[in-house]
Amino acid sequence: MSDWVNQVFCEDALSGLARIPDGSIDLILTDPPYNLGKDYGNASDQQSVEAYLAWTEQWIDAAVPKLKPNGSLYIFLTWRFTPEIFVMLKKRMTMMNEIIWDRRVPSMGGSVRSFSSVHDTIGFFANRKDYYFDLDAVRIPYDAATKKARSRSIFIGAKWLEVGYNPKDVWSVSRLHREHPERADHPTQKPLEIIERMVKASCPPGGIVLDPFMGSGTTAIAAKRLGRQYTGFELNPAYCAIIHERLAAPEVPMTGAKKRKAAKAAMATLSTEETS
Ligand SMILES: C[S@@+](CC[C@H](N)C(=O)[O-])C[C@H]1O[C@@H](n2cnc3c(N)ncnc32)[C@H](O)[C@@H]1O
Repeated sequence: MSDWVNQVFCEDALSGLARIPDGSIDLILTDPPYNLGKDYGNASDQQSVEAYLAWTEQWIDAAVPKLKPNGSLYIFLTWRFTPEIFVMLKKRMTMMNEIIWDRRVPSMGGSVRSFSSVHDTIGFFANRKDYYFDLDAVRIPYDAATKKARSRSIFIGAKWLEVGYNPKDVWSVSRLHREHPERADHPTQKPLEIIERMVKASCPPGGIVLDPFMGSGTTAIAAKRLGRQYTGFELNPAYCAIIHERLAAPEVPMTGAKKRKAAKAAMATLSTEETS
């Protein structure tokens, strides 16, 4: 096995990407610094606009050639730099979707001179027309009431009714509250539910997912749970330790009781932070 597969390196993505062979990655799934001034123990989120956009273009140029010809890329962003970064990516790949992640932020005040921002933008890009995409792996089952309403003879045996529907491009999934069982000590950790949907749809079983900005390692955890391989980088040694801890932890499926407790705790700690 290659020495970069199923490894997360505690190093700068720009130098680390050089160790990955071109054309070897099925899916790039990444959540880079948004340049909102967050403290990741480094200055990556606190750059001038010019420096941030130049750095973004630099890592995109280093990362995209790592994709296989039928590979694809998902990138988390906010409205602030989405237009500029989507244009960069559209020059290199084909844009398939703009997905809105509704973080389910409650209505509790917020901005007074503009509308409260409660979503992240996710760009989905493909290298080529025949990119890998497994819709059946991410279909959403119809509920019993919908199935019953479609019980007339013309619908009997309809494949779409049995297999469920294609997720739409607005994904409403709560951000991870402090009390959530998934939550690690990272300020912008993403929910596994979202990352796993991308991995299932866009990386074949056994394929390799690259995340140049691992944070708490959610992409690696999702890949491991779903029988895919992973590779990537994280600059902050404290986050690297979290990643290794999360990867080593035995997988404990959440029981109904635990889920209810987590939901209750989340309701109790709702806050109005602008971005997750
Ligand atoms: C938005 S967070 C990723 C969060 C992650 N998706 C999760 O679920 O935990 C971005 C991460 O990129 C890291 N980072 C910033 N610049 C980096 C660089 N040049 N190379 C590697 N990691 C970097 C930051 O330390 C931060 O943890």
